[in-house]
Formats: sequence, C-alpha cells, structure tokens
Amino acid sequence: MSASTSPRSEGYVSKPETDGGREASLHQLAAGTVHDVNNLLVLVIGCAEMALDDETLSPRTRQLMQEILGVGERASSLTRQFLTLGQPARPRAPVDVAAVLTSAESLLRRICGDRVQVWLDPGPTPQWVLAESSQLDQILVNLATNARDAMPAGGTLFITVGDGTMPARADASAPSLASTRITVVDSGRGVDPAVLDRMFEAFITTKREGKGSGLGLAVVRAIVEDLGGSIAVTTAAGQGTTFTIDLPQAPEATSSPGSAS
Ligand SMILES: Nc1ncnc2c1ncn2[C@@H]1O[C@H](COP(=O)(O)OP(=O)(O)OP(=O)(O)O)[C@@H](O)[C@H]1O
Ligand SMILES: [Mg+2]
Repeated sequence: MSASTSPRSEGYVSKPETDGGREASLHQLAAGTVHDVNNLLVLVIGCAEMALDDETLSPRTRQLMQEILGVGERASSLTRQFLTLGQPARPRAPVDVAAVLTSAESLLRRICGDRVQVWLDPGPTPQWVLAESSQLDQILVNLATNARDAMPAGGTLFITVGDGTMPARADASAPSLASTRITVVDSGRGVDPAVLDRMFEAFITTKREGKGSGLGLAVVRAIVEDLGGSIAVTTAAGQGTTFTIDLPQAPEATSSPGSAS
C-alpha cells in the first residue's frame, strides 16, 4: 500500500485567496501567541529541571516534578510544530543533507532508545539542497519518533541519504530531475490502513490522547513542500514502513559547496 504527496497536491497548508490581509494578521497574531506560550513552557521546563536537581525531594514530589517536566516538554514540542506550520518562506542557503544526518546521529539514537537499532548511511558524497538545517532536523526527528512508536518491542530504523530522481514539477511528461533522496525505513507494525490515505493531514493520529497530536507528518509534509520536494510512503502490515523524500538538488551543488550549518 502506498500514498504520496507532491508539491502540486492540494495541501491543508494552502490558504484561501480571499481576505488575505485579515488572515495574514490573524496568522501573525497566532504565531506570536504560540511563540509566547513556548517561552513560558521553557521557563516551566527549566524550573522543573532545577527542582529535580534537589536530592532531598521525596519520591512522590520527584515523580510529580518528572510529570511536569514530561508534559512541559511535550507541550513545547507541540508549539514548535505549530510554529513550523505557520512559518513564511525564508531565504535559504545550500545545506549538505548528508552532514545534517551525521550530526543528528546522537539525537536520533536518543529518541529511538535502546530497543531500536539505528543505522545511518549518509552516503559517500555531500548532498546539497536549499533549506535550513533545522527544517531537515525536524523531518528526521518527526520520522524517527514515529518509527520508534511503531516498534514498541524494538526493531531497526535505517536512514539513508543519496541520489534520487523526482518528476519535474511543471510538466509531468518532462524528464525527471536529479534529487537528493532521504529514505527512512523501519521494521515496525506498518501504517494502520484506516489512516494511510490521510496520515499527512494535521490531527490524524492513532495514538492515545496525550501521546500523539497528529502533527508530526503534517509538519514533515509542509517542510518538504516548502522546499519544492515530494514525499511518499510504502507500508505493509507487520512488515514496516518506508518514507521516501526527494528534494531538489541545489543549483550551486556542483560549483560552490556552502555550509552545512
Ligand atoms: N513509521 C510509522 N509506522 C506506522 N504508522 C505510522 C508511522 N508513521 C506514522 N504513522 C501513523 O500515522 C499517524 C500520524 O502520524 P503523525 O506523526 O502525523 O502524528 P502522531 O505521531 O500520531 O502524533 P505527533 O507526531 O503529533 O506526536 C500516526 O498516529 C500513526 O498511526
Ligand atoms: Mg508523529
């Protein structure tokens, strides 16, 4: 089974053409509020962390503090996802996706925990795309988090970066373009057929309340579309899931390597 989305597909991120000014200011207001909420959450997280340093805490208070920390971190991650969804396009520089994958290694291992074996193959050559490295980090983190959740008893997560091809955007009959391909393969339970067709939409989730908000893939899709790329998924019950992301290679790729910051 598979589902895919391309920059041409109609996305929930598209905005109605009418009443653009009012909508833009509402957007700005919402983004500002979410930003403020995140700042408050950072404070809550910081206080909980400081309180947990106190070795005289009773076990009960320690447990409650850990709860506060966990919920604070989850709420903060949610606000960051919202901010990504509402973000206007910004100027970008060439970023080496292979280098981003390598530097995300410890974070991805931490997310996946001990039960999931993580294999990364950034490939032999740099892969330049026009993006912000934080956008690529977020794609990797969101997909790795889903993979972990799909393998509660353990399994393997394999992420590669290499050359690929993608359809030229303007004309389906035009020759394919060279792309940078990120492939994320897990050996988990596979995507529930009930959500497969809508899994890239916001608020689609099979996770219990407090565990998932259904924003992870919506954010991945929004970033991929923003970068002019495409994403596809193939999956089978009990046989794992593969996400394939193609991003246009940066025109500067062959002449001026830029930075992978
Ligand atoms: N690797 C995967 N294997 C199996 N199912 C998946 C995988 N990735 C996503 N899904 C399914 O797609 C749904 C939507 O994923 P998405 O990341 O958008 O939201 P979520 O993980 O449920 O919540 P959030 O990411 O906001 O914490 C998941 O609830 C799950 O059912
Ligand atoms: Mg998710």
